[in-house]
Amino acid sequence: MRPARWEAVAPAAGLPVSTPVEITLAEPAAAKALQASFAGAGVSAILVPTPSGTAQTVLFTEGLAVAPMTARHWAALAASRHARKPGAKLIFLQRLTADTGLEGLSRTLRREWADVMTACWTLLDDTPGEVIAGWLGSGSEDLWISPDGTARRAALGPFISPHAIPPAAPGLWLVTGGARGVTATCAVEVARQSGGTFILAGRSAETAWPEGVAETTEIKALRGLMASAAVQRGEKPSPAAIDKAARAALAGLEIRATLAEIRSTGAQAHYLQMDTSDPGSVEATLATIRQRFGAITGLIHGAGVIADRLVEEKTEAELRRVLATKAEGLFHILARIDRTALRHVGLFSSASAFFGNRGQSDYAMANAILANAGRALQAELPGGRVKVFDWGPWEGGMVDATLASHFKQQGVPLIPLAEGALIFAHELLAGDPADVELVVGTVWSDT
Ligand SMILES: NC(=O)c1ccc[n+]([C@@H]2O[C@H](COP(=O)([O-])OP(=O)(O)OC[C@H]3O[C@@H](n4cnc5c(N)ncnc54)[C@H](OP(=O)(O)O)[C@@H]3O)[C@@H](O)[C@H]2O)c1
Repeated sequence: MRPARWEAVAPAAGLPVSTPVEITLAEPAAAKALQASFAGAGVSAILVPTPSGTAQTVLFTEGLAVAPMTARHWAALAASRHARKPGAKLIFLQRLTADTGLEGLSRTLRREWADVMTACWTLLDDTPGEVIAGWLGSGSEDLWISPDGTARRAALGPFISPHAIPPAAPGLWLVTGGARGVTATCAVEVARQSGGTFILAGRSAETAWPEGVAETTEIKALRGLMASAAVQRGEKPSPAAIDKAARAALAGLEIRATLAEIRSTGAQAHYLQMDTSDPGSVEATLATIRQRFGAITGLIHGAGVIADRLVEEKTEAELRRVLATKAEGLFHILARIDRTALRHVGLFSSASAFFGNRGQSDYAMANAILANAGRALQAELPGGRVKVFDWGPWEGGMVDATLASHFKQQGVPLIPLAEGALIFAHELLAGDPADVELVVGTVWSDT
């Protein structure tokens, strides 16, 4: 595990700017100001509603637009498709806010489009156009540019070893996605190390196990058993109905198993249904938690879904679903809790946020948003500890047997469940608060 740290970047002064240059008009005032600044630096740029596909350098202002988070990220992705041209340089601009993650797009495009250069430039404060013009000739890397013209980039720091966990008062934890998948494993380890009360939240209902059916965790076997039981009752459910009922039963089984495991550590555990992508559902669940348990002191956000598809084929609905669960979901929660009571925040991100990953532009953006949101939150909670884990693939959760064998064939090691959970608990409870974003799974850093 290595922390993401900053390092200064020297401007590649004097390098020629590849022309023609286009600037998208998504944020017209910014686009016009950039055009004027570039002209002052001797670079002529054309303002375009959509890239023409003929420019050698394209600056995207979609990330600067005053628009909702998901709309901004979709607009940038959609606009990028018009700009692809061998040898072109695509630069996505965004302001440094908690709800931005276009670096996920630029890093993914680097993996999907070998014939273009991409960069995401995050502008700190009101970085003037002249400063941006000064960086135009530089290479294709993601930069954080300051108004004084200096820039930095994220780089991996030295490997971190586990810290001893100091004793602390037991907290009240909300764990989204915490009843199932790898987040559940991590929640159990945090409970073992810290005690407290754990509210696990997910979309699934705590469905009871079907009567008269032997317990199994194998979906195929369960479908067979449930179909036979239905026939014995004189019913003829469709295969789709059997599958749905079997999945619900397995979800219920997994929820009860996680609750039991947390309770076996001596901690308290409860399950509440909540859909992080639905503000009404979040509002209602948080009201219940406030009334029944008090103020949340620890937030673990593990809810996440994937919808892998290459940028050129990605649909807006897929991107919306991926961002809604993870990124929008985080903000729905943060807007409705007493943030001053938070002592620990652990966000489940992915190595795709740091390195990009083919087919995962939306997922990489959602996770990159978590990194920026985590840094903003750490600044807001100087006495707290905010950690964003950019996980490589685990031996579980979303990584099913097929995916696991695919990773193994490619020589990508999987994070063992017990080890990942220990890393999570130790960093969240005792890690250096200065290291917010952590990349876990070394092979990702070699690729
Ligand atoms: N497994 C890996 O290799 C890996 C690698 C990198 C990052 N991650 C991240 O780790 C987290 C957990 O992944 P996983 O592999 O354990 O995935 P998983 O097995 O698919 O579990 C996803 C969890 O999120 C919950 N969830 C999904 N949508 C939700 C929503 N709208 N509201 C509330 N809960 C929701 C699910 O519960 P319900 O279905 O009951 O809602 C489930 O508990 C994710 O954020 C993922 O991006 C995983």
